[in-house]
Amino acid sequence: MKEKILVTGGTGYIGSHTTVELINNGFEVVIIDNLSNSREDVLEGIKKITGTKPEFAKFDLCDTDQVENFFKKHQDIKAIIHFAASKAVGESVEKPLLYYRNNLQSLANILEMMGKYHIPNIAFSSSCTVYGQPEKLPVTEQSPILPAESPYGNTKQICEEILRDTLHSNDELNAISLRYFNPVGAHESAVIGELPLGIPNNLIPFITQTAAGMRKELSVFGHDYNTPDGTAVRDYIHVVDLAKAHVVAVERMINERQKAHYEVFNLGTGNGFTVLEVIKAFESSTGVKLNYKIVDRRAGDIEQVWADTTFANEELGWKAELDIRTMMASAWKWQQYLLENKEKYFD
Ligand code: WQD
Repeated sequence: MKEKILVTGGTGYIGSHTTVELINNGFEVVIIDNLSNSREDVLEGIKKITGTKPEFAKFDLCDTDQVENFFKKHQDIKAIIHFAASKAVGESVEKPLLYYRNNLQSLANILEMMGKYHIPNIAFSSSCTVYGQPEKLPVTEQSPILPAESPYGNTKQICEEILRDTLHSNDELNAISLRYFNPVGAHESAVIGELPLGIPNNLIPFITQTAAGMRKELSVFGHDYNTPDGTAVRDYIHVVDLAKAHVVAVERMINERQKAHYEVFNLGTGNGFTVLEVIKAFESSTGVKLNYKIVDRRAGDIEQVWADTTFANEELGWKAELDIRTMMASAWKWQQYLLENKEKYFD
């Protein structure tokens, strides 16, 4: 009998890649998504890769009646991976209440159902943004949590506290918060990837759309940081490496290998790259020259962050394997797939 995993936000970028890895590892996956930032045909992509189309329920996790109806029918869930959330930093500054309501209410609804239907395990999609601009680098799981730079980052901090407090009140529950660094790239099949929804905020989709001629040039935000070439440093991690870490985390909880009811892991590669280094890696791995110009810093950006991955490597037995060139090549291959199917993806 396959163990059933609920993936909320499972038609999203990281959710869909994680669903592929869960199915490849013998799990049964059921997805909840409201399709506010993804598309239902992602399920076809998952089927093409794995041969299995996961069960899908379309509703909003803030709708308590629909959440209750769902859990009544799925009391055999062994673990939940909770991706579903609003995640655009800039949008969160303009619409903070939407972010607090959506991101906090959805988690509270899930945790309530876990208590009511005795579903013991949850992996939570957190973020390195909880560290703000760290004083000391690389960042470990014990690095101080600094005041969030945006409502989005604050919802991640508050959700971690909601998890901690809920577990404290119910020792049947176990949780692992996974703090992502910068997820990039796409599955090697190039049939799933980060959907282009509007003008990209993030660096890699903007690079690939510029390389595809959809954008005139890339603006590099800031050239006066205290870094090797003046541009900001991030720890980019391939989305497939990230997805695999979620399978390991779920197995850790199901097999009761946790050392504590609540654990936190940084999911990065341990390597920091500047924006200019990323551009060079893109150009050399794809052979495509990139138009870019240096402009002023973007408000809210931190200067540099990368992970100390020791705890995840040793405790989870997981390590990111794919390098920056593979990340860039896979992102480019996905962009080319989007262009070949532009009537489907660009209305
Ligand atoms: C990366 C670097 C930019 C765009 C965000 C979220 C964070 C997490 C990961 C969810 C920065 C520079 C970018 C561009 C540029 N997401 N840049 N030109 O801001 O590190 O983190 O994604 O958890 O919460 O905040 O990612 O890709 O936007 O920026 O120069 O057009 O690229 O200044 O140095 P960021 P990003």
